[in-house]
Amino acid sequence: MNRLQGKVAIITGAARGQGEATARLFAQEGATVIMTDVLAEGEDVAANIGSAARFVTMDVRDEDAWTRLVAQVEAEHGRIDALVNNAAVVEAAPMEELTLASFERMLGINLIGTWLGTRAVAPIMRRQGRGAIVNVSSTSGLRGNANMTTYDASKWGVRGMSKAMAMELAPHNVRVNTVHPGAIDTPMLNPSQRETSEIAAELGLPMARVGQPLEVANASLFLVSDDASYVSGAELAVDGAWTAGFFPVRVGDQSFD
Ligand SMILES: NC(=O)c1ccc[n+]([C@@H]2O[C@H](COP(=O)([O-])OP(=O)(O)OC[C@H]3O[C@@H](n4cnc5c(N)ncnc54)[C@H](O)[C@@H]3O)[C@@H](O)[C@H]2O)c1
Repeated sequence: MNRLQGKVAIITGAARGQGEATARLFAQEGATVIMTDVLAEGEDVAANIGSAARFVTMDVRDEDAWTRLVAQVEAEHGRIDALVNNAAVVEAAPMEELTLASFERMLGINLIGTWLGTRAVAPIMRRQGRGAIVNVSSTSGLRGNANMTTYDASKWGVRGMSKAMAMELAPHNVRVNTVHPGAIDTPMLNPSQRETSEIAAELGLPMARVGQPLEVANASLFLVSDDASYVSGAELAVDGAWTAGFFPVRVGDQSFD
């Protein structure tokens, strides 16, 4: 398939997990992919993908690095069609135990990093009169999770900010959408590579399994492709119905009689 033939895409946090899966998928679909991450392992991942991929070591919080990256990509390729703001970190702890420094780090990477990236590519996308941005939020941007105050704040921020960006950029045919992964089998969710069926049972996932990185990558592919040409300001949950609701009554449950 060539759903991104001739397109140029930047993906942050692409050294592993969902970012890596997205880079692989976009390259398979014909895109030139600029992968960024703070982890140098991204170099090997890009080499493994092949000539369609290039890796740049970069922290999404670095304003000057964004300016340099966009200038370099524009000089080399003449265009930027897609940006996936995927890089993020997570922290779980009771609210009273969190420090100001850790909260600022969370917001700096997850929220401000997403704004810096979008702000950096917006001028070229406006000039092109087309472009697509996917900001990776989370189910934590759709509801509240105990012991994840700062992560939830950052992901709700990404969701809200993306709506404003979608409004501002819509007149220029630049689309901004959010993807909200549920529990996905990556180093973030599963750093010790536990049996995923245990995680699914603990979390009570409705499909009785965790998601795979490719299943999120496929959602981003749709949103940056021309198939989504009239989709902007939308939020796409990729969570196997985890945030769709809950089970107040199960079949055979007499408790509501
Ligand atoms: N895995 C899940 O269950 C899950 C659920 C909901 C949302 N998400 C979101 O999906 C996205 C991808 O997460 P993942 O599961 O692949 O996690 P991951 O930890 O495997 O990958 C995240 C990548 O971001 C990079 N990164 C971290 N800080 C960075 C920085 N300052 N600058 C540049 N890169 C940086 C990391 O090095 C890593 O390669 C994130 O936005 C995450 O919040 C994940």
